[in-house]
Amino acid sequence: MTQQTLDQYRVFGNPIAHSRSPDIHHIFAHESQQNINYQKQLVDIDGFANAVTDFIKQNGKGANVTVPFKEQALALSDELTERARLAGAVNTLSFVDGKIKGDNTDGEGLVQDLLRNNVKLKNSRILLLGAGGAAKGVILPLLAQQPQSITVANRTFSKAEQLCLQFADPRVTACGFSISADNTFDLIINATSASLSGQLPPIPAQLITPSVVCYDMVYGKTLTPFLVWAKQQGANQVIDGLGMLVGQAAVSFSIWRGVTPAVEPVISALRHALE
Ligand code: ATR
Repeated sequence: MTQQTLDQYRVFGNPIAHSRSPDIHHIFAHESQQNINYQKQLVDIDGFANAVTDFIKQNGKGANVTVPFKEQALALSDELTERARLAGAVNTLSFVDGKIKGDNTDGEGLVQDLLRNNVKLKNSRILLLGAGGAAKGVILPLLAQQPQSITVANRTFSKAEQLCLQFADPRVTACGFSISADNTFDLIINATSASLSGQLPPIPAQLITPSVVCYDMVYGKTLTPFLVWAKQQGANQVIDGLGMLVGQAAVSFSIWRGVTPAVEPVISALRHALE
């Protein structure tokens, strides 16, 4: 089978050179005996809609969307899932029967990674740090796991408040970073971009107990500043966002191909490549 006759997929972004999505999807395809061709495409800042239209004309079947086009992808979609609508962003497009269907698999990717790491979500008390796009995208999928509460803490309190209002769920409440140490959490998720600039969200150290699981959506060659700090404070289980990256890709793959791929081999391969 030539590359042209394979079902075509893309990831659109700017920048895009660093994207591991083609590798991830080709491994999924190989393992699940699916024949696909998946390429990355650098798109001009004002060229997203045209890039999608051209790809549909070329018989493209679906695409992932990354920074800075996720909101534009939402606007371009003819149909949206509830989780994409509430995330306010689309990372997965499917081109079906002349329609553009938009979904957001980031939150489900996080949930799958937490469950894979045996983190209990039902009845748990979750502290979600950050109120930007990354935090917004995971709230609905986390709620589906029936936690006791999701407390959204943000440096700019008003943004956390605004975000919580959108969910109109008594389990989702907002606060600033000066969280009282009287609060106890089972899981703390860092959804701020602080790790990307080597910084820490300044939450009280007393919140970190040996049993609290600390998760950072960022990953890298070494542990993120938040996870290093959490370990220093005595947290026994810290997890970075590599599994979430692979998890969101696996959910996209299953939407497109109807097959749920195994994530473990891909996580191991990427972890190895980071070393
Ligand atoms: P993303 O899509 O990654 O969520 P974003 O929408 O720009 O990016 O949001 C970034 C988030 O990280 C915000 O919650 C931001 O806090 P503010 O709303 O107060 O700006 C948070 N953030 C970024 N740098 C931070 C830092 N050094 N400490 C704490 N929070 C930080």
